[in-house]
Amino acid sequence: MIDFLFPDEPGSASRRFFMTASFWLLVGLTFGLLGAIVMIAPDLMPALAPFSFGRLRPTHINVLIFGFLLSAYFGGLLYVVPAVCRTRLSYERLANFAVWYWNVVLLSIPAALLHGWTQGREYAEMPWIVDIGILVAVAVLAFLVFTTIARRKENLLYVSVWYIAGGLIWTFFVFAVGNVVWNPPTGSWFGMNDQILMWFYGHNVVGLVVTPQAIALAYFIIPRATRTPLYSHALSLFGFWALIVMYTHTGTHHLLQAPVPQWLKVISIVNSIALIIPVFAFLTNVWLPIKDRFGRIYDDVGAKMVFTGTVWYFITCLQGPFHSLPSVQRVTHFTQWVVAHAHIALFGFGGFIAMGAIYFLLPLLGREIYSKRLANMQYWLMLVGLTGLFLSLTFAGLIQGEGWLNGEVVYRLLPELQRYFLVRGISGVLLVIGGGLFIFNVWMTLLRKKSGAGPALTKEVVTA
Ligand code: HEM
Ligand code: HEM
Repeated sequence: MIDFLFPDEPGSASRRFFMTASFWLLVGLTFGLLGAIVMIAPDLMPALAPFSFGRLRPTHINVLIFGFLLSAYFGGLLYVVPAVCRTRLSYERLANFAVWYWNVVLLSIPAALLHGWTQGREYAEMPWIVDIGILVAVAVLAFLVFTTIARRKENLLYVSVWYIAGGLIWTFFVFAVGNVVWNPPTGSWFGMNDQILMWFYGHNVVGLVVTPQAIALAYFIIPRATRTPLYSHALSLFGFWALIVMYTHTGTHHLLQAPVPQWLKVISIVNSIALIIPVFAFLTNVWLPIKDRFGRIYDDVGAKMVFTGTVWYFITCLQGPFHSLPSVQRVTHFTQWVVAHAHIALFGFGGFIAMGAIYFLLPLLGREIYSKRLANMQYWLMLVGLTGLFLSLTFAGLIQGEGWLNGEVVYRLLPELQRYFLVRGISGVLLVIGGGLFIFNVWMTLLRKKSGAGPALTKEVVTA
């Protein structure tokens, strides 16, 4: 029984985190689709509180960020760290315990939010007790990573390990501070100061929680799939440090229309533009060396998804500095433009890399993919779905922004938006079908009898 629940077999915890991620992806996408349906045809929803937009929306977002993205990254890092450190994961049984524990924490997210138990701060909606549950999980993962690093047989710390270890430390502190865990009754501070703190947290969720783990996986997978070293290891570390320096100062770009001190706004805008530096340090490093080897990326569905994730990252990070400019935000702020950005960022970049990593790492964990054909079908469905979602919301956002700026009232613009919301809904259906194919493929891969070799823990390390 103990061996079934908490096996000591190398790679077992990674695989279970991947099953977890695929499950919560489908759940989270479904909540997103329900939210989109509410916006097209609210009468279709049962008149029950859990189906109200105010409950569906935070459930959708938090399930996807914590349930899908973080679970996939946890599974990925439990494979990548031992692999590049040329050692075993320090405590495989503890990692398996973490999988079960993490799923209990994840279950409490929809349970709390659908019941309306929320702290009402974006990305920090979960009640205090759930926050503590998440912090404990992150601490356990950090413990596993650092104890594995301590036992390493490879002297050089490959850049992925920097991002993973740094990302876990940031996740812990950013999450604790952003959720104001020392004030359980409200999980908030007071007034405008709370908003500044909240958006320090909000943008660090994307910049210091999601981004480092996604980059770490891309840094591992792209050179490995193409069998080419990075352009420069030094440049990769420069990008790492630049990311911390610049991301920590950008949160206030969410508050450019709010009564925040002007100097803070200026700092946030300057740093938002400067973020181009770490972004290009990363993209140069993974893109330049592979320019003649696209065939290898194209042939491997996992690598293809990861590479596509880097292209979405490029688009996101051109758009980001652009809409950090006050003159642009006068039009785009509070509109669906931002929601479009959020989706190419978290799903296009963070999600494609997460799904690609799962497909790429499963064979290295000793399990051949059940169906590459289904995986390719899912890739195209999701690419088309996300592009439709992005374009429809971008157009809707521009219509809203232009209208509002010209004094039009919110409700009179709604009929104009209907067709774009319909396209978003249809795109959402494609994405939910893609999510269904994904869970089927991943679970079939893992529930089948073992195939292929065990985890390739000590094979070649992908360094320059
Ligand atoms: C150069 C990099 C980036 C810059 C300068 C940037 C800038 C911005 C700005 C200014 C906003 C707020 C827009 C507004 O409210 O009017 C925003 C929103 C957002 N960004 Fe980015 N972004 C960048 C990259 C990313 C990345 C990599 C991710 C995800 C991994 C991301 C995820 C988000 C999300 C989820 C929101 C929506 C927040 C909300 O709920 O309002 N961004 N971004
Ligand atoms: C892994 C995939 C996805 C992730 C990570 C994700 C994440 C997010 C985030 C962060 C927001 C808040 C954006 C903001 O306030 O600026 C959001 C809102 C939303 N998402 Fe998603 N989403 C995903 C997929 C989907 C899908 C497939 C649909 C279905 C069409 C969808 C529908 C919605 C809706 C309706 C909202 C609310 C928009 C609003 O408040 O106006 N999402 N999602």
